[in-house]
Amino acid sequence: MTGAARALAQAAAAAAAAAEPGINVRMIRCDEANADDLCGADAMLIVCPEMLGSAAGMMKDFFDRAYYPALGRLSGQPYALIVSAGSDGEGAVRQIERIASGWRLRAVAPARIVCTHAQTPEAILADKRLPESALEGARELGATLAGGLALGLW
Ligand SMILES: Cc1cc2nc3c(=O)[nH]c(=O)nc-3n(C[C@H](O)[C@H](O)[C@H](O)COP(=O)(O)O)c2cc1C
Repeated sequence: MTGAARALAQAAAAAAAAAEPGINVRMIRCDEANADDLCGADAMLIVCPEMLGSAAGMMKDFFDRAYYPALGRLSGQPYALIVSAGSDGEGAVRQIERIASGWRLRAVAPARIVCTHAQTPEAILADKRLPESALEGARELGATLAGGLALGLW
């Protein structure tokens, strides 16, 4: 909604492509993604805002649509997770980790929460500018996923 998750996803995708030019990196909005996108990928980075204590509704809709069509087709697929949050983020992490565990995805790194500390309605609804350290963490994760694929680690 306010750009934090998008900036993190873009940073991770650019770093993955730069780290391993032989790897085809696709960044797909969750409302345009489906189970086949998921199952056709060798690895996945989920980047999702926390809203009202859980994953943003648009991402939940993706999981609702893709869960059963993808079930049984993803075992062991490597993934990582970044949650953008204003004050917490743990609820979305727990929820998405449960879904990932149902799909038998393999986490290649601990989930990252990027907290903007937006507290007032005005701050929460404002476009987000993330600190370089947050973008750097996303870049590291993107490069790690791509590097591991290239090396055959996962
Ligand atoms: C309706 C709404 C509910 C939110 N609920 C939470 C919440 O439960 N926990 C939290 O840490 N942040 C919450 N936030 C703050 C967002 O996670 C934060 O603004 C984040 O930057 C959103 O990601 P985005 O910039 O990619 O849209 C909420 C924001 C909105 C608009």
